[in-house]
Amino acid sequence: MDTDVDVDAGRAARADVTGASVDAANLKLCCAAAYTSDWARLLLGDSFHPGGLALTERLGTLLSLGPGVRVLDVAAGKGTSAIHLARTFGCAVVGVEYGGDAVAAAAQAAEAAGVAHLARFEQGDAERLAAPDGSFDAVICECAFCTFPDKRAAAAELARVLRPGGRVGLSDLTRAGEIPADLRGLLAWIACIADAQPLGEYQRYLTEAGLAVKMVEEHDAALGELVHDIRMKLMGAELLVKLKKLDAPGVNFDEARTMARAAADAVRAKRFGYAIVTAAKPR
Ligand SMILES: C[S@@+](CC[C@H](N)C(=O)[O-])C[C@H]1O[C@@H](n2cnc3c(N)ncnc32)[C@H](O)[C@@H]1O
Repeated sequence: MDTDVDVDAGRAARADVTGASVDAANLKLCCAAAYTSDWARLLLGDSFHPGGLALTERLGTLLSLGPGVRVLDVAAGKGTSAIHLARTFGCAVVGVEYGGDAVAAAAQAAEAAGVAHLARFEQGDAERLAAPDGSFDAVICECAFCTFPDKRAAAAELARVLRPGGRVGLSDLTRAGEIPADLRGLLAWIACIADAQPLGEYQRYLTEAGLAVKMVEEHDAALGELVHDIRMKLMGAELLVKLKKLDAPGVNFDEARTMARAAADAVRAKRFGYAIVTAAKPR
């Protein structure tokens, strides 16, 4: 199996992340590479966030998406959410994603789903969006804001590209208290854990960017289910490797298993959760 992830670079960067002096560009690259890997697909399926497309649809409903609404999906991954929103609500979605391979896969998927006229994809950085000021009616960002090294810049960008009266919907991993030490490395960063914020902090980033928070909805159970699923799939993959039915060069199952167990414990202890926050740009 091709993991597409530079494991050595990852290990080196991991030490840096733990030492809190990571190179932001490398972090974004590692994250993008991880989410285009076969492993992400094996462990997460096509939708890379807790709650899957049902939660994406919930976000679409909360943002009143519909035909003619211009939507930006920031950190769109392989386009699964953008395509689903276009299909379900008939809105026009632009997906911006750091990883070039993911952008190409998303464009292909939109074509295959027959919604290429509604969903298109661009490579870009959430902290420096190319879109002009006020060019979208709604912006979504699912399970990615917590991975942006400069969250203040990203929040300012979400607000900038919204028209006055436009709405933003974030869904993201939340934490209560400090992150356990074994969940602070690069793998944990990529898994959206290492820099997860308390729920109030997401609201603060949006407010400081000039947006008015409208609604907060907690979906912790969806995170518990995702972590459980990942643990089961990891066990399955490890068994297949032992039976020599799956090739997984460079994959450290001990590390992945330890992290998944620590994540499951932390979710059970309510140290991690998942939430939606919506906000509006004043008219
Ligand atoms: C957990 S995945 C979520 C993908 C998608 N939003 C979903 O929910 O299926 C995180 C995504 O954020 C992307 N990403 C990370 N940093 C980014 C940045 N600065 N700008 C754009 N995309 C970024 C990664 O490449 C990855 O595809």
